[in-house]
Amino acid sequence: MKPGILAIDIGGTGLKMTVIDDRGSMLTERVRVPTPHPSPPEALLAALESMAARMPDYDRIAVAFPGVVRDGRVLTAPNLDTKLWAGFELQQEISARMRGKPTRLINDADMQGLALVSGKGLEFVMTLGTGIGTSLFRDGELMPHMELAHHPIHKNFTYDQYLGDVERKRIGRKRWNRRLARALELVNVLFNPDRIYLSGGNATRVDLKLDPQRVLIGSNDAGLKGGAALWHSAGTDRHSGTHASAHGGGRPPARAVRADAASKPKPARTKRGAGDAVVPEKQSGRHADAPPENQPVKQPVKQPAKQPKKRPTQQTADQATRQPGAQAKKPAAKRLDSPPGKRLTGKAGKA
Ligand code: BGC
Repeated sequence: MKPGILAIDIGGTGLKMTVIDDRGSMLTERVRVPTPHPSPPEALLAALESMAARMPDYDRIAVAFPGVVRDGRVLTAPNLDTKLWAGFELQQEISARMRGKPTRLINDADMQGLALVSGKGLEFVMTLGTGIGTSLFRDGELMPHMELAHHPIHKNFTYDQYLGDVERKRIGRKRWNRRLARALELVNVLFNPDRIYLSGGNATRVDLKLDPQRVLIGSNDAGLKGGAALWHSAGTDRHSGTHASAHGGGRPPARAVRADAASKPKPARTKRGAGDAVVPEKQSGRHADAPPENQPVKQPVKQPAKQPKKRPTQQTADQATRQPGAQAKKPAAKRLDSPPGKRLTGKAGKA
């Protein structure tokens, strides 16, 4: 068998690895180990090296990194520790440690997008994980990388602080979904994308009624499968470190499966389509009793979210919103209006 591409997805919580073929299909099972903490380059590289030793043959490497990378070098690593990583020549180092194989490095949300987008129109990708990754594609071509994750969305709180995994665990599923609805409305105002893909580990926790024509749920494996499109593209650009197009080199478009709001309840298992985007069926089922448009999104989640015993010491978005003496459950959040005719979800409630 022709050697494949070693695909590596470096996350703030987990390191994932597999070998894929030129079309992004996995040739072996995905391996996942927890990201070492603290995570200086040496510790992370050692972990990757031992994972790679268990992989079948490969002749190229594609690496997705959770921060800004340019020309093979790390510029920021917010969920690992930028102080430890800034300036690190990760692309070169990985190649050196993995039998000198040619290596390409790209931001993780960019890599997910390469696997998910259809190649038509303006497509926006948001990854919901430890951090909030974003990427934008025009007719399949990756646009310059933007760190929306570190842009304020509410008061001075960034997308990462407002929607990231730490905050999701703290505020619970229902409120996290409301915040996501608000973020989607903002993305709509900002980019007017033809299509939005939600992916990453927390995409399975999305309970919103989504416009099935415009908002799709993608598989988390896209973070690895995008390595194929990364290698189809040629050259290097100034923005993400790699010129990448989801449809260079004859790669067939990823077929997206709709996140269908009106679908009937189905067995709770993940259905995988012929393409890379999938809809967890459990999720489609939940949407069956979603409210009509222009009604607040009714959350079908019955269990109240567990609150961690200890509150994080860092000030959170809610704390900043609260008035002195106000109830914790009633943040003074304003509802954001979305442009007419372009609503992506049911109305967002309070943040
Ligand atoms: C980083 C992004 C990254 C995202 C998801 C954010 O904290 O700034 O570059 O794509 O997390 O990992």
